[in-house]
Amino acid sequence: MAANIESVLHETRVFPPSPEFVKQANVSGMAAYKALCDEAERDPDGFWGRLAKEHLHWSKPFTNVLDESNAPFFKWFSDGELNASYNCLDRHLETQPDKIAIIFEADDGTVTKITYRELHQRVCHLANALRAHGVKQGDRVLIYMPMSIEVVQAMQACARIGATHSVVFGGFSAKSLQERIVDAGATEVITADGQLRGGREIPLKPVVDEAFAMGGCEKVRNVIVYRRTGSKVPMQAPRDKWLHDVVKGQPDTCEPAWVNAEHPLYILYTSGSTGKPKGVQHATGGYLLSAILTMKWVFDNKPTDIFWCTADVGWVTGHTYIVYGPLACGTTVVMFEGVPTYPDAGRFWKMIQDHKVNVFYTAPTAIRSLIKAGGDLPKKYDLSSLRILGTVGEPINPEAWMWYHTTVGRERCPIVDTWWQTETGSILITPLPGAIPTKPGSATLPLPGIAADIVDETGKSVGRGKGGLLVIKRPWPSMIRTIWGDPERFKKTYYPDDFKGEYYLAGDGASMDEEGYFRIVGRIDDVLNVSGHRLGTMEVESALVANSKLVAEAAVVGRPDDLTGEAIVAFVVPKGARPEGDDAKKMAQELRDWVGKEIGPIAKPKDIRFGDNLPKTRSGKIMRRLLRSIARGEEITQDVSTLENPAILEQLKQSR
Ligand code: WTA
Repeated sequence: MAANIESVLHETRVFPPSPEFVKQANVSGMAAYKALCDEAERDPDGFWGRLAKEHLHWSKPFTNVLDESNAPFFKWFSDGELNASYNCLDRHLETQPDKIAIIFEADDGTVTKITYRELHQRVCHLANALRAHGVKQGDRVLIYMPMSIEVVQAMQACARIGATHSVVFGGFSAKSLQERIVDAGATEVITADGQLRGGREIPLKPVVDEAFAMGGCEKVRNVIVYRRTGSKVPMQAPRDKWLHDVVKGQPDTCEPAWVNAEHPLYILYTSGSTGKPKGVQHATGGYLLSAILTMKWVFDNKPTDIFWCTADVGWVTGHTYIVYGPLACGTTVVMFEGVPTYPDAGRFWKMIQDHKVNVFYTAPTAIRSLIKAGGDLPKKYDLSSLRILGTVGEPINPEAWMWYHTTVGRERCPIVDTWWQTETGSILITPLPGAIPTKPGSATLPLPGIAADIVDETGKSVGRGKGGLLVIKRPWPSMIRTIWGDPERFKKTYYPDDFKGEYYLAGDGASMDEEGYFRIVGRIDDVLNVSGHRLGTMEVESALVANSKLVAEAAVVGRPDDLTGEAIVAFVVPKGARPEGDDAKKMAQELRDWVGKEIGPIAKPKDIRFGDNLPKTRSGKIMRRLLRSIARGEEITQDVSTLENPAILEQLKQSR
């Protein structure tokens, strides 16, 4: 962390937007940015109220902007009513029904385009079908689907009838899926037979069946299956139904459910510092407002834009910047089923060329892996359509930033390094492309209305040139409302007593340079960021110790990795004798596969080390910071005098 802070404090390269870009930008120049910030500062309610009236269609207008009476359970626009799907689809039917809403490119390169009119119809078909199957407002629908037009259809259909969706990333295992079905109390599941990625077929419906076999899913009445791969999958009548059958004969229109602005639009599970993932609950009105505003401010959204966010819909980035933000703005989005390296590492660049993408938004991990797989490949393609580049999910190292800037952006495109979280719902800290000069590796400044700051443990601002904890000092519209079923955990995690419950604690460490620019350093809790995916160390530990045949005890830490940002290192005390040589390799592989089955392949530890014990204090507490040093191959300089068993350090160091 210290080294990172050092490097940003010494970053002297500054890239101001070009005058041509500034001239055409939605927020044009620093003065325009400051004017918005000032307006928000002077009168937050007036600011957000004005924007919510301008950018959303309300069936019942709100009179109350922010309700703080039950803080930190804040409510936004809470006496207003609207429908998210109406705002994303119906609004565009009069003005631009034949505009392409989604350009979908399948793994094998097949392209399917769908207009706003067609998407609206297909959403209505499914919404009607869900209603016909008894799905009611407030019911939870679990979605476990590949990247497809159908997953957008499913999410929008839920929103249309006021059902709360919970999308689970298609890479999660049966066990993870089952836990989420149970926790959300889902009554429906929408899935597919399988998905195609990199030429390989990955089953989905069989995983749903496996989840059901684990028990606890009895509340689920219907499983609707989209036929993607055509592979034979078991269908259990009357519970399982094909998507193409249930939508047959359904009317082309469907009256939307006008819901309260605070109605839960979706729940999305994310990792925290315990073994149990948190169901982050988002509301309808505030969420949609911030999704739209950030599209216009950060991505400088224009009616002619082709917008491509490469995230999977299973993550929040896919929710906000594929499904809700772009559609609410009436944009054309590109959606991609496959992987960036198939058939070769030029796939992204070819797709930008083919679809004339104007705004491209991806993760630093993808950028780093594409540099490695073919750093010159972008030069072979015509990337002149690009006007903005974005990154999200993890800190971007200045070298990768510079490559993105020169080789992909050809030094023409502003890079928006966007900081946000599942909990924040939308981007909070980022350069505005036509206003704020960028610096490699810095997310720069907070958006208008976002009271971000960096504080010490007592809640005092650290000021410029220092590092500390990232907090948000005022509520914002797209913020998390609660953790599904666990309001106490919500309060404890995000509004801790340390700061008198007044500040939102992001869980990230950050530093501020002399100009007040933010640089996000990484998590300060027991959460790892592997390839931009959040994983709790406790989650991986619980998965390991669940293997009671092999594992007596386990501790998991992160170490820096050139490609994935962080890598997972597990220290395992085996049940039997400590394996060595080939036996150790075999057991490590077995445990890796085990974790893959328990959580999903993204959670597989990169290194597994075996020891007779773990470094513990006399009271039995595992000293993780020592494990962290060992995992990184660093000299141990910390005080080890409180250690019960100092000899174990040597053994673990040798255990590679
Ligand atoms: C990290 C993804 C540095 C951070 C939208 C945060 C970042 C976590 C950035 C949230 C960035 C996200 N620079 N770090 N631009 N963006 N992070 O919930 O640690 O999957 O807390 O949301 O990713 O991950 P999540």
